[in-house]
Amino acid sequence: MTKTSMQEILTEDGTLLVRIHRPDRKNALTVAMYAALTAALERATQSPAIRAVVVTGSGDSFTSGNDIADFLANPPSGEESPVFRFLAALRQFEKPLIAAVNGVAVGIGVTLLLHCDLVYACAGATLQLPFVNLGLCPEAGSSLLLPRLIGYPRAAELLMLGEPFSAEQALEWGLINGLGGDAEMTLELALAKARRLTGLPAAAVQRTKALLKRTETEAVRQTIAVESRHFIELLHSPEAVAALHAFVSRRRAIG
Ligand code: COA
Repeated sequence: MTKTSMQEILTEDGTLLVRIHRPDRKNALTVAMYAALTAALERATQSPAIRAVVVTGSGDSFTSGNDIADFLANPPSGEESPVFRFLAALRQFEKPLIAAVNGVAVGIGVTLLLHCDLVYACAGATLQLPFVNLGLCPEAGSSLLLPRLIGYPRAAELLMLGEPFSAEQALEWGLINGLGGDAEMTLELALAKARRLTGLPAAAVQRTKALLKRTETEAVRQTIAVESRHFIELLHSPEAVAALHAFVSRRRAIG
């Protein structure tokens, strides 16, 4: 990671704005970027000055998910791998977490939204969970959280067919809280909600979040552990290796 692939701003009201900044690669996430995201959440946990976190992306993308070349170069191998350390930090984060989806969101770019308290997306944003297309399986607890949130038939469609869907559909299904207009307006909306949250009593907000998640906390932890084992196994399957190489060589062929 270059230092600039993750940008952080602390606003006056105590919101940490974390911007994934690798626009030339559609903000695809490398191991170093997962480590930076984990560090940001840990800092936010420890700092009393930070009362909420907003995550967004740069350019026309939220994030295109795991960097596919990095999947081949640095595949995750267990719970200490940067991606799984990030998922643990995300799942355990106790302060309000808001996403401003400023454009395309793929893979973990969608599954991380399932751990946010509020999600706003810009009109026209496209989302996709193409794990099966790459010979992989769901992660981040999505095999549990997605059907709970939008119902089994829709979750099966999104996770088993891996087809893209719009932010408008996501809103209709209850996957996100609202549409914010263009990317800038969406970020403004997310920051305004964060400002409202930081103006409320912090202990009450955090306990409310903990209570909302109480019954699923252990199930999500277990699901992520099971998913991770399958994911790591599949990552080394001939189908996944071929699909990942195909994406990378297509890029090289064009570039
Ligand atoms: N990993 C590595 N590189 C990626 C990437 C990813 N996840 N997503 C995009 N990029 C790269 C592209 O290869 C391209 O590189 P190039 O300029 O050297 O050709 C560049 O970022 C721009 O992407 P491009 O595909 O030209 O943009 P687009 O607007 O046509 O499509 C996406 C955007 C996100 C729909 C498309 O890039 C895509 O499907 N990416 C893969 C997403 C994915 O499968 N993620 C993993 C999920 S587990």
